[in-house]
Amino acid sequence: MDIRDNRLFLGGIAAEELVVRYGTPLYVYEAETIVRRYQDLIEHIPYRPLRIHYALKANSNPEVLRLLRRLGAGAETVSPGEIRLAKEAGFQEILFTCSYIGRAELHRAIEEGATVHLDSLAQIRHCGEIAPGGRVSLRINQGIGAGHHRHVVTGGAESKFGIPVAQLREALELAGEYRLNVVGLHQHIGSNILDERILLRAAEAQLATARSVEGLEFIDLGGGLGIPYRPEERPLDIRRFGAALAGRFEAFCREYGRPLTLILEPGRYLVGESGTLLATVTDIKRTPERTFVGIDSGMNHLIRPALYGAYHEIVNASRVEGEREVACLVGNICESSDFFARDRPLPLFREGDIVAIRNVGAYGYTMSSQYNTRPRPAEVLVERGQARLIRERETV
Ligand code: LLP
Repeated sequence: MDIRDNRLFLGGIAAEELVVRYGTPLYVYEAETIVRRYQDLIEHIPYRPLRIHYALKANSNPEVLRLLRRLGAGAETVSPGEIRLAKEAGFQEILFTCSYIGRAELHRAIEEGATVHLDSLAQIRHCGEIAPGGRVSLRINQGIGAGHHRHVVTGGAESKFGIPVAQLREALELAGEYRLNVVGLHQHIGSNILDERILLRAAEAQLATARSVEGLEFIDLGGGLGIPYRPEERPLDIRRFGAALAGRFEAFCREYGRPLTLILEPGRYLVGESGTLLATVTDIKRTPERTFVGIDSGMNHLIRPALYGAYHEIVNASRVEGEREVACLVGNICESSDFFARDRPLPLFREGDIVAIRNVGAYGYTMSSQYNTRPRPAEVLVERGQARLIRERETV
């Protein structure tokens, strides 16, 4: 955290100055953090060819997309809208993960030139009818799932995602009937995983499956790389993960007889830590039991705490170091889950202070809504010491 004169700076600019210029609530992204995270992956996963396909769902602001495209990323998309955004941002290599989509949408994704990760036997049939002889990838559920909350676990018997590994033979036969070329295997086990051993175990299972699939060009291990949200959490050991993964993948390729492309689809890891939501303290209520600090934002702008009980660090951008008190940080939405923090030691706030809610670059704005007919915030990107508006504040 960049603190000067006890005030919070983002990308070299005082948070309070950004607020004077753009108002609150305001999403601010630090470009440098995104660049650093992208470079971390490239540097610490020494296998080549390696492709990083950014998962647009984490943050689909067009300027964030352009930044990642310029760095060399491909795109991972899950809807026609995301394909369109990816194309407009100039991405050439687009993956499309199909979850319970119908023929029309599948047709469209194929027409757009995306490589599709088929998620079910029905989709293999649909795809075979739409584009017989095409190149496809199969999303396999290896029975392994993980994540920060059960809502984000996407592997295992409870999960709606992927073709169960037990049905792999059937899937390959079906693909064969339509002369579909299965050029890739895909997997995504869940989100915000900080223990690299879980990611490696899932990769191991996928490689064991890949051994029996001929004609592969790539293996896509999905996203899920976590970031530390809580002060006591240790970051994912990207060096250890990268070295182990690269070593294992190389050995597999030697055995397989050709160098496959290793694909990862991170969302959160690339953009999560870059984002801060700035808001203004509007109303402080002290009841006999609690202190509620109210701000001019709410769960409609950042739903992660309400939806997953997610923890986001909270800073008083106007006075970073100072007295603290146990309080609740709440929003202006008429709903009882409208909390950013519950009974947590927070900085002492005064009306008019600027609150910084940290690590909101992923699944912040993209999951926001206009609930209560409250417009969404503006978004600002800070790059090389310059701030620029990358999405206007909505109006009623
Ligand atoms: N690939 C696929 C197929 C996915 O479904 C996802 C995320 C990703 C990649 C990127 O995952 P990441 O690297 O960001 O973990 N809204 C939740 C997270 C949901 C993730 C959904 N899928 C949250 O705020 O924690």
